[in-house]
Amino acid sequence: MTAYDTLADPRLTSAPIGIFDSGVGGLTVLRQLDRQLPQESILYFGDTARLPYGNRTADEILHFVRDIIGWMVDQGAKMVMMACNTSSALALEQVQQEFEVPILGLIWPGARAAAQAGQRIGVIATPATVASDAYRQAILEVNPQAQVWQVGCPAFVPLIEQGRIQHPETRRVAARYLQPLMAQGIDALVYGCTHYPHLEPVFQTLLSSQVQRVDPATHLVAAAVRELTLLNLKHTGPARPTRFYVSGDPQGFADLSVRWLGYRPQVEQVVFSAATVLPGGS
Ligand code: DGL
Repeated sequence: MTAYDTLADPRLTSAPIGIFDSGVGGLTVLRQLDRQLPQESILYFGDTARLPYGNRTADEILHFVRDIIGWMVDQGAKMVMMACNTSSALALEQVQQEFEVPILGLIWPGARAAAQAGQRIGVIATPATVASDAYRQAILEVNPQAQVWQVGCPAFVPLIEQGRIQHPETRRVAARYLQPLMAQGIDALVYGCTHYPHLEPVFQTLLSSQVQRVDPATHLVAAAVRELTLLNLKHTGPARPTRFYVSGDPQGFADLSVRWLGYRPQVEQVVFSAATVLPGGS
């Protein structure tokens, strides 16, 4: 029997859920957690010193994810949710074998929802997620009749991390990425990167209302509700305030995230060993 098989133990149930992303993308998952699991305490980590993840190799991603989950376990997390599709696509299965803590990813919840939402499915995601082919394979496993088109969108994460949501450049880039999907007559679009729901105001102006938008975060959190119930890990008491940590500049993260959180978070820095910060981070 593992620590996670026991009957509801108050020390475990009140422990936080750890969620992580490369930056502010995970806030779209946090929003769903606040809606669906308001009684849970959350530990948020943004790996801002090493973003974007979407241009990294599978080895780099695995290395980063191990750092983060190891740290979350040290912080006493009772569950870890990858609030990052790139990590989910490239590292989930490996770290699920390495760590005892339950770890959830976005691909399967997103793929199941996509297969229900449509037959002609577009996926927008980071280049690394598209290259992994994880969404296409998962969607086809649920519905072999579905057709899937994937577009890598390398410019989105930098634009969002610079807070340039309403900038004309962002709209131009979005129109360019969506064009081949619209040309295929898609009936569903998966936001295959947790940063992208932040662009909803832009997508609104570009997509027809006939296209069902699938935000895997909603379905990941629904899966977490089921998992917590199954494992007797659900917390019933009040949540503690969310704790925010980043590997890069805490003030920069606080300044950027206030628009989505509606308050200025207290953010602390966590520095993993220097050797783990590979070139390319800001
Ligand atoms: N938000 C992450 C994802 O869902 C990572 C984006 C990035 O850093 O490139 O893929």
